[in-house]
Amino acid sequence: MANKWSPDSWRGLPVAQMPDYPVQSVVEDVEQQLGKFPPLVFAGEARQLKRSLAQVAEGNAFLLQGGDCAESFAEFHPDNIRDTFRVLLQMAVVLTFGAACPVVKVGRMAGQFAKPRSSNIETIDGVELPSYRGDMVNGMAFTEAERVPDPERLLRVYNQSASTLNLLRAFAQGGYADLHKVHQWNLGFVEDSALGHRYQDLANRLDETLAFMAACGLTSENAPQIHETEFYTAHEGLLLNYEESMTRIDSTSGDWYDTSAHMVWIGDRTRQLDHGHVEFMRGISNPIAFKAGPTLDPDDMMRLIDTLNPTNEAGRLTIISRMGADGVEDGLPKLVRRVKNEGRKIVWVCDPMHGNTIKADSGYKTRPFDRILSEVRGFFNVHDAEGTYAGGVHFEMTGQDVTECTGGAQAISDANLQDRYHTHCDPRLNAKQSLELAFLLAEILKENRGTEPQRIAAQS
Ligand code: PEP
Ligand code: CO
Repeated sequence: MANKWSPDSWRGLPVAQMPDYPVQSVVEDVEQQLGKFPPLVFAGEARQLKRSLAQVAEGNAFLLQGGDCAESFAEFHPDNIRDTFRVLLQMAVVLTFGAACPVVKVGRMAGQFAKPRSSNIETIDGVELPSYRGDMVNGMAFTEAERVPDPERLLRVYNQSASTLNLLRAFAQGGYADLHKVHQWNLGFVEDSALGHRYQDLANRLDETLAFMAACGLTSENAPQIHETEFYTAHEGLLLNYEESMTRIDSTSGDWYDTSAHMVWIGDRTRQLDHGHVEFMRGISNPIAFKAGPTLDPDDMMRLIDTLNPTNEAGRLTIISRMGADGVEDGLPKLVRRVKNEGRKIVWVCDPMHGNTIKADSGYKTRPFDRILSEVRGFFNVHDAEGTYAGGVHFEMTGQDVTECTGGAQAISDANLQDRYHTHCDPRLNAKQSLELAFLLAEILKENRGTEPQRIAAQS
């Protein structure tokens, strides 16, 4: 790999999963426009996230990452943004309060619009068309015209991301996330279920704690942590021309930052060492991640780590394991052990979604809740056995009452999938399933606390 990096040095290399646009001049025009648009995030915020992730790498905090598989133009609505945000807040409070563990919150939001696909072609009733690659690339409708990649969509993604981020910032800092509002975050359709009661119970205990803290002199007025929260955004950095256009030099540090999100990751299908995605990511100073599926060879993983985090900076690099419920206990130990033996500082995160997608008899793509939970448990077991730290989770989820993943306390069945199957790509956990998972996770985290000294020693 060439040593000299620039935001466009990926262009000389092979790239997977990027669209072939019909008219190059339009692409160039769009890239130039994007290059003049204001950054969506500040470099200082990305550095703050990196510091928080360093805390995760050291075993002192937990990363909660979640949001849509693919954001879409059609589902762009303030209520959808608010509902996903509030479920993430609920989950974070369950983990923070339930397991006494600081939680770093990162949304798969405000930029998660492009999808890698396993096939370039979709076939329906004998008709073949190019696959849908997310609203950032082409349209979901199964027509020839919609499936043509359209570069103007990049501008729409920028605009939608900017307004989504604006609302998220307002929620995070404007009082919505105040811990005194924990009761009000409960969503209507969750409220009168056993899960809703369990949440109310936790909220009551939190109220008591806040009253005690207020009596000791700690209130929203003098402790900003009670009144506001830090919330970050992340997406798969798939369309490198978009990411390049958003990449700017930070005037305070002189370093390059991709200002499209606080954090960006490389997908399981684009992590080839000699390809453009790895080249692009190595030069930006944001916290970054790559996905690790069952085909990742430990030697290749080490080369990726050397390339992406040559100075072994804690918080710089996260590895998102997505092995599948059946593969995690076989596939993950050799990676974790190698990282530990070589003394690398890595945040280990479990994505229990992408290795557990199945086709239901009804024809819908789904993910059984039990499989998701089973991969999470397997992930914790591996770290427990290896003496390393299970640093976080990465979910595809929504605040809406959808029926896309089967199971959970709601017992969504194959026959229910058709009721509210709205996803633009992969099946997401709904609000109830997400909250249920958070309670189960809090229990796992509590159980694991006993092994803390060992796991921290292992990372240092
Ligand atoms: C995703 O996160 O939506 C995704 C496509 O994941 P992976 O790269 O792990 O397949
Ligand atoms: Co997905």
